[in-house]
Amino acid sequence: MDISETPRPPYRVVGTAQPRFDVADKVQGATRYAADWMLPGMLAGCILRSVHASARIRRLDVSRARAVPGVMSVLTAADVPHNAIEEDPTGLGILRLPTPVLAADRVRYQGEPVALVAAETEAQARAALEAIVVEYEALPGVFDMEAALAPGAPRVHDGRDNLLVHWKLRRGDAAEGLRRAAVVVEHTYRTQRVDHAYLEPEAGVAWVDGQGVVNIRAAAQVVEHFREIAEVLGLPHNRVRVIAPFIGGGFGGKEDMTVEPYVALLAWKTGRPVRMVWSRYESLLARPKRHPLTMRYRTGADRDGRLVAQEITLLGDAGPYALLSPRVLFAALVVGTGPYRVPHVRIDAKAVLTNNVPTSAMRGFGAMQVTFAYESQMDALAERLGLSPAEIRARNFLQKGDRLPTGEVVETAVALPDLMRRALAALGERSRPSGPAARVGRGLSCNMQPYGRTVWFRDRASAWLGIEADGSLVIRAGVPDLGGGQAAALAQIAAEVLGVSLDRIAVHVGDSALTPLTGGTFATRQLYMSGNAVLQGARALRALVAPVAAALLEAAEGDVEFADDHVGVAGSPARRVPLAEVVAECIRRGVPTSHLATFHGEQAAPIDLETGQGRTFPDYTYGCHAAEVEVDTETGAVRLLKYAACHDVGQAINPQSVEGQIQGGAVMGIGQALTEEVVLEGGNNLSTLFASYLIPTALDVPDVQPTVVQSGEGKGPFGARGIGEPPTGPPPAAIASAIEDAVGVRLRELPMSPERVFRAMNPVSRRGETHGK
Ligand code: MOS
Repeated sequence: MDISETPRPPYRVVGTAQPRFDVADKVQGATRYAADWMLPGMLAGCILRSVHASARIRRLDVSRARAVPGVMSVLTAADVPHNAIEEDPTGLGILRLPTPVLAADRVRYQGEPVALVAAETEAQARAALEAIVVEYEALPGVFDMEAALAPGAPRVHDGRDNLLVHWKLRRGDAAEGLRRAAVVVEHTYRTQRVDHAYLEPEAGVAWVDGQGVVNIRAAAQVVEHFREIAEVLGLPHNRVRVIAPFIGGGFGGKEDMTVEPYVALLAWKTGRPVRMVWSRYESLLARPKRHPLTMRYRTGADRDGRLVAQEITLLGDAGPYALLSPRVLFAALVVGTGPYRVPHVRIDAKAVLTNNVPTSAMRGFGAMQVTFAYESQMDALAERLGLSPAEIRARNFLQKGDRLPTGEVVETAVALPDLMRRALAALGERSRPSGPAARVGRGLSCNMQPYGRTVWFRDRASAWLGIEADGSLVIRAGVPDLGGGQAAALAQIAAEVLGVSLDRIAVHVGDSALTPLTGGTFATRQLYMSGNAVLQGARALRALVAPVAAALLEAAEGDVEFADDHVGVAGSPARRVPLAEVVAECIRRGVPTSHLATFHGEQAAPIDLETGQGRTFPDYTYGCHAAEVEVDTETGAVRLLKYAACHDVGQAINPQSVEGQIQGGAVMGIGQALTEEVVLEGGNNLSTLFASYLIPTALDVPDVQPTVVQSGEGKGPFGARGIGEPPTGPPPAAIASAIEDAVGVRLRELPMSPERVFRAMNPVSRRGETHGK
């Protein structure tokens, strides 16, 4: 029996497609995003950004800018109380490399913030930026990872070399394993720098209230950056509040702070509300991107195609500051061998400092990039051994109870055989080529992606639930909703337990002062963390009021049922009372009708830094995608004809939201596979417009066919697994595999543009080479 046919527990609300409470406003344009906040007396804030990628600031003169009419404040590094953001992104106390809020003596990437202006109007603020005089002295920079690591390379930071972090994973004896292997395939893969390209650019509004609290409504994935902002301002943590309920897409790009410290500084200095909205140009120019990775893989298998050993080197371009690079490379390390059993593993993952635009979190977070490499290696092995891509995978899939290269045991179901069958079946009949120069091909790709934070961060999330006197329910949780349905899912979970109808639940999210803290919306963690907090809170609340209801109904406590805004007696439909009456009785008896719950995620000590052995992530989500492409042999253009994506989400809370995440994630991966690339030349960004940075449009991708499999084995509420990031991983390898099936060439560098495909098919026609004898 397929795992997806396992009988499911009968939930009434969970697992059913429900309209989300946030969507009506969104489709009507009524949702107020950060940039929609308008406050009386509000100023416009702008940033002066470096034109150089690597330079010393010789002189910075803002006196003329201060004299521009309407200008209320011009700030430079000297005006920032504490000009450093100092989190150790490893969480292990092994890395200290603060990021300046404003560049002081030197700039390290093109677009780095150098000065801030607040003025009555945006035009006045822009005029003031023009009036700032900066004299730069260009310094040698490093723009290439290998060059940055070479001895004598220019240093991005004085006093340290350019190796930001080096993670190691050692299991068994990889060198010996490769010697013993019947076949070894060795290839280098390159993924490119890509942008999150969310609909809502970086934006925020800040104001100081009567008790001296700096309030910031921002487009942010993390409201808990209030602490870092307070430290920048030199204020106690409780004097900064960040509000970020609804966001127009984050994808990791709003996991680090964007406008928050800048609007906070300007509002604090001027005493006036300040609004800052970055243009798409600024966003594409200077916001952290997805890490380009260079991935060298040596993979050995025995004669039956069973993996014996993998030796892997991963290099990631971090840009000049740490941000989340150490964690991204760590995730890449942990899942570097993919969802396969491998006894002997050696992985080195390094993040390298350069003067390129910074890189940091982006949907898939390192695990996405390595999927391109490990899946391409599986295809290469299959070809060498005369096996089908599906067969070689089937012989190596991880199973529950197996050990990962970190030594951890896989604790939940790995439904990959089922997922692979379903993804392939979803493609249906093979399409016919549309013309004589067209070739059709198919490919597949599997992946695993962690959900939840690394266990040594000892993650936790809180949620408050209260039943009102009229029987309606209020949920408060700090979760920022990025558009993925994070808030609505909480309502569905509470509705299941407390029997309150969804239209009688109000969910308040994303306010660091007023909603219990949950940690940010990243790492595919909110369903696992806040979902479990709400489930725990709802169950606790039910346990508080159930005895009162039982007394009212003169029934045994074990027989009471919460449904349809009533509490009733199982098997006796006539015996029920409205929830409001139960609440009234609770109040009479002094029984609380609210509860604050805190869920603690899995916790463990840090890994061993020399071997990478130890506990890492709480759990993983597995998936398989299948693609059918048509390649135009005359131009190298790849058209995606069909695309199927299948993931085991444990238990869908809202199947519609799950399908939306699968489709959106797959399209993001498809864009990276075929068209998207932030092109840098010597640190200069050549991709600052959507005219040159090509995201897929509705015309470029077929309908992604999602298949939702529910093994029931996840660590989220009701056995759910996270699905926010996982679907971005498989597309590049699935499409590369399909291109190879169509025209016989394998691409190992992204994006697989028409030029690259054409050159791979026509190696002799490269520029500088000649045809003929
Ligand atoms: Mo994410 S890439 O952890 O927002």
